[in-house]
Amino acid sequence: MRPAFCETWQIAGGDEVENGPPTILLTGGTGTFGQAYVRRRLAGKNGELIRIFSRDEMKQYEMAQAFGDDPRLRFFIGDVRDKERLRRAMDGVDLVVHAAAMKHVPICEFNPAEAVKTNVDGAQNVVDCSIDAAVSRVVALSTDKAVNPVNLYGATKLCAEKIFVHGNVYAGARATSFACVRYGNVMASRGSVIPLFRKQAQKGVLTITDRRMTRFWLSVQQAVDFVDFAASRVRGGEIFIPKIPSMRVIDLAKAIGRQARIEEVGIRPGEKLHEILMTAEESARASDGGSYLVVHAKPERVGRNRVADGFIYTSDTNQEWLSVKKIRELIGEVERKPWVRREPLTYAPAAVPA
Ligand SMILES: NC(=O)c1ccc[n+]([C@@H]2O[C@H](COP(=O)([O-])OP(=O)(O)OC[C@H]3O[C@@H](n4cnc5c(N)ncnc54)[C@H](OP(=O)(O)O)[C@@H]3O)[C@@H](O)[C@H]2O)c1
Repeated sequence: MRPAFCETWQIAGGDEVENGPPTILLTGGTGTFGQAYVRRRLAGKNGELIRIFSRDEMKQYEMAQAFGDDPRLRFFIGDVRDKERLRRAMDGVDLVVHAAAMKHVPICEFNPAEAVKTNVDGAQNVVDCSIDAAVSRVVALSTDKAVNPVNLYGATKLCAEKIFVHGNVYAGARATSFACVRYGNVMASRGSVIPLFRKQAQKGVLTITDRRMTRFWLSVQQAVDFVDFAASRVRGGEIFIPKIPSMRVIDLAKAIGRQARIEEVGIRPGEKLHEILMTAEESARASDGGSYLVVHAKPERVGRNRVADGFIYTSDTNQEWLSVKKIRELIGEVERKPWVRREPLTYAPAAVPA
């Protein structure tokens, strides 16, 4: 597998602009992904309108201010559990990017019915309302934790993947196509381990659960690029997987706490030693696009670039790794870019990189 970390995924695009500026509904638009997605889209010249759909009015208020009350943004208070509200928000929408989710593993574990309502019932509501509103394309965000899940968060995201993939069958002759994007940990997203390690480093002791633990890692900008890329290639039923590097969690600890002692506290329930982005079973109907993989709903869609039989994409057998030095550089880059963090947010379109 060739290195892909520094690549951006080029958007095939064109059709959106030809058909006039698209209207996009972004569920979970006030989150880490959502804000980076909005920033990227508004920096382009397509003139699209973006509807943000989420529950908390304060986050929406702060985001509206941070984006200078940009008229291309509309804010909808709503819960993906509420079909009526979603239906209203989807009116006249061309593309749905579904990012809203409960994603904290221990919180999902302790509130299973709530995680199911948001991540599973919410996914079904998005599918139903997209079909009813004749939305053209829907891209749902998924995670490596959905693959052979060991915690409820992963299990709900696996259900959501199935709901979106089979949404294409539900759609029947209607115009809506559904796909998922599945990736690993997003560097410095809300709930990431980096702020915890920073705090622990000040006290001189960093705790990791297991020295052998590995994770896939990508930046939020790469996540945004890849979702845009996938949105331009949706045919219906795909799971798009970017090729991204792995890191050892112990290397992340070393990168942050140069002088700190590292203490092993033992793997927690619901935690895996290594993550999987694609299973051997999936590789039987997957194609290799160079810097990305696609699991197809139907084997006949695979085409010429078939993935080798039995191929499995795991964080410990990955061929691309981040060194301690590279991790330190990447964290530095992320922390120098306020727009990929939650706070402070100051919108300066001219300063947004291409
Ligand atoms: N971060 C990662 O490392 C990672 C990795 C792989 C995949 N993903 C996936 O990427 C997506 C976005 O993640 P993120 O890091 O941006 O999450 P985040 O920062 O926690 O944002 C979650 C967003 O969803 C909204 N939301 C939560 N529950 C909702 C509901 N019931 N109805 C409507 N909106 C709701 C939140 O706003 P309110 O609370 O105001 O509603 C917020 O805008 C998720 O689907 C996640 O599973 C994330």
